[in-house]
Amino acid sequence: MKTYLVTGGAGFIGSNFILYLFEKYGNNIRVINADCLTYAGNLENLKDVESNPNYIFFKVDIRDRQAVNNIFQEYDIDRVIHFAAESHVDRSIKNPEAFVSTNVLGTLNLINAAKMAWETQDGYRPGKKYVQISTDEVYGSLEDEHGYFHETTPLDPHSPYSASKASADLLVKSYVDTFGFPANTTRCSNNYGPYQFPEKLIPLMINNTLSGKRLPVYGTGKNVRDWLYVKDHAKAIDLVAEKAAAGEVYNIGGHNEKRNIEIVTLIIDTILDLLPEQDARRKGISHDLITYVEDRKGHDYRYAISPDKIKAELGWEPETMFADGLRMTIKWYLDNPEWMEHVTRGDYQNYYKQMYGM
Ligand code: NAD
Ligand code: DAU
Repeated sequence: MKTYLVTGGAGFIGSNFILYLFEKYGNNIRVINADCLTYAGNLENLKDVESNPNYIFFKVDIRDRQAVNNIFQEYDIDRVIHFAAESHVDRSIKNPEAFVSTNVLGTLNLINAAKMAWETQDGYRPGKKYVQISTDEVYGSLEDEHGYFHETTPLDPHSPYSASKASADLLVKSYVDTFGFPANTTRCSNNYGPYQFPEKLIPLMINNTLSGKRLPVYGTGKNVRDWLYVKDHAKAIDLVAEKAAAGEVYNIGGHNEKRNIEIVTLIIDTILDLLPEQDARRKGISHDLITYVEDRKGHDYRYAISPDKIKAELGWEPETMFADGLRMTIKWYLDNPEWMEHVTRGDYQNYYKQMYGM
């Protein structure tokens, strides 16, 4: 039975990944979720697996070297899937220190712990794998409508968030190059789906639309992101963990580029389509909610991923069409109002006021 150490498993992608692992492998795996539960970590995401004896949660900060080493001492870990991170660009502009601390130093702790646990006199114990979950933002910004990020595109991060992720990628690369550490790095485009915290574009716009609140679109609304349904991302990570040769880097993306304003418009239209005629919320919902606000500092114009390598080498392709994925996502938020209510209590209100002033 394989034992996974998933860091940041209480966050958006980490929790979707853990749910996917149990869906795919049943109880033929054991999953240890190590998460320190920042504002973005939520154990409610994992209620479907919390009573499974093959799922174990540790409230651990990846910056705590001893706590991380203890996990490797107690369990024979076969896969490390490293999601834990400060993940929001706007927060990184206000507080870069937290991003360097968790994303860079936390990653260093983790690779040191895995290396120490796995290394032998002449290499590493067979079958071990570390996967660094990175982002297309490390490549910087495409400044026009042409071209894609390839694995060979030079790293050119612009925000403190993407700089911290690029630093972590380079540390992992250095361990591959220097120590032959059995790692892969994946760089994915923007994810969407259930359990995403409403600081990110799609859940924020869904929540505001349902509450009849203004929809803050940065700058012109013309910036482009390449959207991927989170379960398709989970499938790609699993393939990389199982099939990829150590040391390889893979881009993961949906060939699904959209301008932000298109996304916001489609969210309003899909919500109106899904809400029953008699639902009182319909009265407050219209395109007039769209409000152009001050642009994000250093706002990257366009991200677009070429997933050719992962397709050719591992046979991965995105499966979920954007209109279908967005509809499923909105339905999930409509069906789980208490989830949104819980995560938007307290601190979120202060964050929202400071960030948007409205
Ligand atoms: P998230 O913010 O939803 O979740 C992050 C999780 O990490 C939370 O559960 C949080 O509690 C935990 N965490 C933060 N600091 C920690 C620490 N010091 N120790 C232990 N746990 C800690 O993030 P997400 O959107 O799920 O992103 C997960 C990973 O995927 C990140 O590494 C991110 O850079 C990467 N990524 C995200 C996207 C996206 O669109 N969301 C796209 C590509 C890559
Ligand atoms: O590309 C992958 C990255 O995608 C991940 O590495 C990050 O962790 C993830 O947060 C995401 O970064 P973005 O900055 O692209 O995502 P965000 O949802 O914050 O914003 C998407 C776009 O929408 C971006 O162009 C900014 C814009 N936006 C965002 C918010 C929150 C708005 O116009 N208004 C908003 O209120």
